[in-house]
Amino acid sequence: MLPAASLSCLQSTNINIHPTAPSLSSSLSSSSYQPSSSSSLHNRRLVSFTTIIHGNTPLTPTTTTKPKGHSHTVICASTNEPLKVMISGAPASGKGTQCELIVQKFGLLHISTGDLLRAEVSAGTEIGNKAKEFMNAGQLVPDEIVTAMVTARLSREDAKEKGWLLDGYPRSFAQAQSLEKLKIRPDVYVVLEVPDVILIDRCVGRRLDPVTRKIYHVKSFPPETEEIKARLVTRPDDTEEKVKSRLEIYKQNAKAISSTYSNIMKKIDGNRQKDMVFKDIESLLSQTQNDNMKSMELAGKLVLDSDNRSNLPSSSKDNWIGIPTRLNNIPHSREIRNYFYYDVLQATQGAVNDGRSRLKVEINIPELNPEMDVYRIGTLMELVRVIALSFADDGKVVKVCVQGSMGEGALAGMPLQLAGTRKILEFMDWGDYGAKDTFIKIGSIGGKEVEEQDDLFILVAPQNAVGNCIIDDLRAMTEAAGKRPVILINPKLKDLPGSSGVMQTMGRDKRLEYAASFESCYFFRLLYYMGTQYPIMGALRMTYPYGCELYKRVDGPSGKEKYVILSTFPKRPNIDEINDAFEGKPRDQAKKASGFWAFLSGVF
Ligand code: AP5
Repeated sequence: MLPAASLSCLQSTNINIHPTAPSLSSSLSSSSYQPSSSSSLHNRRLVSFTTIIHGNTPLTPTTTTKPKGHSHTVICASTNEPLKVMISGAPASGKGTQCELIVQKFGLLHISTGDLLRAEVSAGTEIGNKAKEFMNAGQLVPDEIVTAMVTARLSREDAKEKGWLLDGYPRSFAQAQSLEKLKIRPDVYVVLEVPDVILIDRCVGRRLDPVTRKIYHVKSFPPETEEIKARLVTRPDDTEEKVKSRLEIYKQNAKAISSTYSNIMKKIDGNRQKDMVFKDIESLLSQTQNDNMKSMELAGKLVLDSDNRSNLPSSSKDNWIGIPTRLNNIPHSREIRNYFYYDVLQATQGAVNDGRSRLKVEINIPELNPEMDVYRIGTLMELVRVIALSFADDGKVVKVCVQGSMGEGALAGMPLQLAGTRKILEFMDWGDYGAKDTFIKIGSIGGKEVEEQDDLFILVAPQNAVGNCIIDDLRAMTEAAGKRPVILINPKLKDLPGSSGVMQTMGRDKRLEYAASFESCYFFRLLYYMGTQYPIMGALRMTYPYGCELYKRVDGPSGKEKYVILSTFPKRPNIDEINDAFEGKPRDQAKKASGFWAFLSGVF
């Protein structure tokens, strides 16, 4: 069962509609962004924008809020993973109109580059003066100006807390890539589709209320009162000629941008009544929000024991949430399994994002140890699925491979633990979105399996069967994969005796050297007395990019077990170092792999 803190966090992701609550939407809209007319403040801002691009302290530009006059408000309780949405479409496709409705319903922070730029223009700032000539000509404002504004806004706390709705950005491939480099990605990329002829009519008839920022149309959405009508303004770029130029620029860029978000892109027919358009967007975003919640559940954010966290090395404090207890009781609960899946996922994602390409994951809790019980292979498959789907979510084509039958004639066969694994993978539920066969492919280990479109390879428990060495197939595969990442999950690549009982000696050194060339990005192992499986004495954990952490399992005064950290090591410690840490000896003291704690040697 999830602890109370964790449960309440999951439950709080529900959206509560409060039709009578006072409007909060003003504080949720980016049209609230107000540039300062002071040029000295403005100069400071330009400098800071540049700083943000280089990843330093985020800037907090001066902002005020403007009432939007919405009749009801939705309070979106805070979630750990608030929605992140991009909305795109040709000029006048209805982005601004739909954003108003999305903000009302989902409480996201609306960041519209058009609105931010227009605010700079009307405040007469340096950015505004630069942007004005481009905007009035119906052209794009230079990337560096817009990117700086957007990244500054996204880096603020409210964007992280409420989630965001990015409107009108990115508008070029370079802008999309700027966000990718900063690892800023939406959950969903909405594209509104409207025929050209309608777009021109919408632009020419558009009017804005400078007080409420509400968007009207002379024919389809006329203002409610004469007073409002009298103050409406027309955008200088809303002439037919300029709209055509904007439309052309949009079309030139649209394809390149959508290639960045192809796996999360949802096209919506925007040539319908605005409420009907919103209905589709609303259900799409609600679905995305539910999916986010499910992933959070999957991540099984177990907050186990705050005492543990205080002892942790600072490198681990950010993401690490404590070793689950009662690990000898199998089958493990779903929460425990999820804890490990999430732990492994973070490490592999981090390593791949940092450009590491030869990786191995070694996780040896009882539930994931098919040596103890071949049925445990199902849990291993579940781990593989979590990792594969997560990379597929990032738009990567993932090939999941199991070694096929090796050897010839009477010696043909595969390791017992892998029997039937490929079938399990084929029949597994790979989600509702048709990920399998598009983003997830199942294959065998070997050079011939590597195809041009594959982005990443996950190899399930590759191992040497008696007399048959997997390393040649493995090497052929990694050579064909080139720089693309190859992740080995629980590999066993040590030489085994052949069927004759004799070790294969030809090329042995090279094989072992090759096996060692995979970098460990995750390692978890329970520690026991030598030759026993009870009680658990401690655990060793290493997760990319950090060093190795050694834990001791202790029973608290109430009898509740917990893991306390004993020591950290830059690399995996040897038996002596582990024994010394358990005995409380300082690091440089003479090592002796004997005595009471020598039992630990059994784990290696
Ligand atoms: P921006 O303000 O973003 O303009 P845009 O993308 O051209 O989009 P619009 O604001 O014109 O239209 P919209 O899709 O929001 O439609 P709306 O809801 O208002 O950018 C302006 C300029 O800033 C750019 O040209 C560029 O110079 C610069 N810029 C901005 N971002 C930049 C970036 N990232 N990089 C570089 N430069 C950048 O609706 C339009 C009309 O249609 C309204 O009258 C509305 O009432 C009506 N309408 C809406 N929905 C419907 C419907 N369903 N049925 C009938 N009518 C509808």
